[in-house]
Amino acid sequence: MKALILSGGKGTRLRPLTYTGAKQLVPVANKPILWYGLEAIAASGITDIGIVISPETGEEVKAKTGNGERFGVNITYILQEQPAGLAHAVKISQSFLGDAPFVMYLGDNLVQGGLGALVDKFKSQPLDALILLCSVANPTAFGVAKVDEQGRVLQLVEKPKVPPSNLALVGVYLFSPLIHEAIASIQPSARGELEITDAIQELINRGQGVAAHQLQGWWLDTGKKDDLLEANRVILDSYVETVNQGFVDENSQVIGRVTIGKGTQIINSTVRGPVIIGDNCHIENCFIGPYSSIASDVKLLHADLEHSVLLQGAQVCNVHQRIVDSLIGQRAKVVEAPRRPKALRFMVGDDSQVELI
Ligand code: G1P
Repeated sequence: MKALILSGGKGTRLRPLTYTGAKQLVPVANKPILWYGLEAIAASGITDIGIVISPETGEEVKAKTGNGERFGVNITYILQEQPAGLAHAVKISQSFLGDAPFVMYLGDNLVQGGLGALVDKFKSQPLDALILLCSVANPTAFGVAKVDEQGRVLQLVEKPKVPPSNLALVGVYLFSPLIHEAIASIQPSARGELEITDAIQELINRGQGVAAHQLQGWWLDTGKKDDLLEANRVILDSYVETVNQGFVDENSQVIGRVTIGKGTQIINSTVRGPVIIGDNCHIENCFIGPYSSIASDVKLLHADLEHSVLLQGAQVCNVHQRIVDSLIGQRAKVVEAPRRPKALRFMVGDDSQVELI
């Protein structure tokens, strides 16, 4: 069995961060989202993995992720020239996939509980597609499935105006090679893309075996800022460990589960976990509250923050109000004079959002 991870697309919903980088490389708890999927696939025993990349961000994905050695897998990169849909990504990957059954995994999705049970279910039954479903509050934003009591899939619709159920298609699919024939016979949708949802519907129409597995744990689609903050919260809650490889002075307090990276200094500050802090950060006279992820090379002086994600090289200095629910990009600076400001001065990039609350 092989795996295909989709890591292309333009990431419009995460702008401005995605002007300069791939959405799949935005970190959750200081690790690129894409790597969670890679690790889950590797843990299910699959070692032959194709990653579909785009011309805009592909080189960055390749440079960061490498040939797969660090995950114990072999990675083949496949260039998708245009974001022409999930089924199009499978189509251009045919020479990599050959006749093998495969897992298709959307690189910006995080799924609890790994893929082992799903892969086992697919291998133990004569199926041409096994899809993963999760009950959601806003089904119109997803592909939606109608299933019968035995779990057989009756109908699939992409982003329906009137959803047939609240069961959304999670970004993990298992296919037999018959999917290639189904893809060859579908037409682009109204949004101009070859939809994998339509290809699976084609398998259903032909009477092929299509089954669904309902996800019990969480599923996080990290496409937007609040989704990303929620993913960060869930991952920190579940996985962060107490590790201190840096320096914490005697005037500081580190409470609860906090990971502190190499070369990081924490001076006269309080850190209340779960929190993860990368390498070579300088944190002085600060309060860092729960559910914060601070990447490497970050400088925080007189800052008070919680439930926020700061990317590599960001700086927050002398901001006397608490920063909450925030996402601060690479090398971005948030600074203020050390007294109560008379005015606010900004240089804010395209598609940024500043809320003074
Ligand atoms: C895609 C699929 C959709 C699925 C979703 C999961 O949507 O087309 O069926 O529910 O991923 O994340 P997109 O992210 O392309 O809008």
